[in-house]
Amino acid sequence: MHLEPYQTKVNNELVHSLHKYSDLAQQYGTPLYIFDEESFRERVYNFKNALENPYFETELLFASKSVLTLAIAKLISEYGIGQDVVSAGEIFTGKKGGVQPSKMYFHGNNKLDEELAFAVDQEVGTIVIDNRMEADRLNNILEQKGKKQRALLRLNPGVEAHTHEYIKTANLDSKFGESVFDEKIEDIIESIYNYDNIDLAGLHCHIGSQIFDSESFIKAADEMLHFAQRIQTNLNIPIREINFGGGFGVYYTEEDKPFDIAEFLPNFIEHVHEKSTEYGIQLDKVTIEPGRSLVNNSGSTLYTIGDIKQTVGGKKYAFIDGGMTDNIRPALYQAEYEAALPNKINEPVKETYTIAGKACESGDVVINNIDLPQVETGDLLLVNGTGSYNYSMASNYNHIPIPAMVHIDGEKSYLTVKRQSFEDIIANNIL
Ligand SMILES: Cc1ncc(COP(=O)(O)O)c(C=O)c1O
Repeated sequence: MHLEPYQTKVNNELVHSLHKYSDLAQQYGTPLYIFDEESFRERVYNFKNALENPYFETELLFASKSVLTLAIAKLISEYGIGQDVVSAGEIFTGKKGGVQPSKMYFHGNNKLDEELAFAVDQEVGTIVIDNRMEADRLNNILEQKGKKQRALLRLNPGVEAHTHEYIKTANLDSKFGESVFDEKIEDIIESIYNYDNIDLAGLHCHIGSQIFDSESFIKAADEMLHFAQRIQTNLNIPIREINFGGGFGVYYTEEDKPFDIAEFLPNFIEHVHEKSTEYGIQLDKVTIEPGRSLVNNSGSTLYTIGDIKQTVGGKKYAFIDGGMTDNIRPALYQAEYEAALPNKINEPVKETYTIAGKACESGDVVINNIDLPQVETGDLLLVNGTGSYNYSMASNYNHIPIPAMVHIDGEKSYLTVKRQSFEDIIANNIL
């Protein structure tokens, strides 16, 4: 397993900062989500520095769909970054954790009327309108409340990002945004711009996730700026902000080759500046909203090995005390992970195992065919790269409790999410 900078080998044990994984398991139990604050902080500062430029304001937003707890929200507000939210629930949690609603961008298709009203009441800074109907509903809500709301329109620029199909969002049949190829697109933008209660500040796009080809972002920027020029020329509508979304790829396994953000972003900003100057677009603000690339490699999940089973077909299963309920990604889109036995970190590889969870689904496999030292019942198993889209997608399938989360900041470790109890699982049931 590729180790993160905060992971070191001490004798035959893997240690996170100063914490032995065996001690963390003992103190907090397993399965356990572990989140490293220092690496998150470092990435936030790297992104922020890389965005600095003399041309326009930039803002880093954290796509909180990737992981959101009160403690994460508190870090977002402490680091002074914005929050990309996709539901009233995320607005609520972010605000409870200390994020100023003015620094929130509210995304999502089919935002409910109640959610739009909630966002307006909470004074969310920017609503990213998904489609014409939503704009209409938003304007009615604003009219009733006598308020004006800053907004962007989500566009689908049609740029193909090289990534897994299920998480590709900018194709022609995407459920997100309005397409630049729609013959009614100018009409849509003009009518949104003309609403009295909506201040249409600009445009948004998000071309996909887990993208390794940096050229895709450049292509998306070109398409968006070219489109902004068309809108400015044909409709005389100024585009003051473009939000280029998230989607920067991260390391899960050796196949993944992320590009260097600190190198790429200054070039990207320079490119946006040059193109916008060429097209005569006066951008005041550029935003990006990464999720995965800010948190994924700050997170790992610690499990305990239970039974080990050899099938007649020749497969060797090592069962863990969690699985698809805390990490749905392998079952959902064949995501791959690396893992290690932290209490046998220096032992040589002995056998090939399939790491399967305890849910009643054949597809509940976290890792297919991984070479590990001899696995025994009671060993710990650490899966790296689970900081994004694991906790946030966790479920109570089979009424399995959602694991606890612990944060580590150097020598400090503290619980940020309690392990669910059975009572928590049935808390909303009525008999
Ligand atoms: C609109 C939008 N912005 C940002 C993101 C974050 O993407 P990632 O976590 O890949 O950076 C997503 C992910 O689905 C998204 O839909």
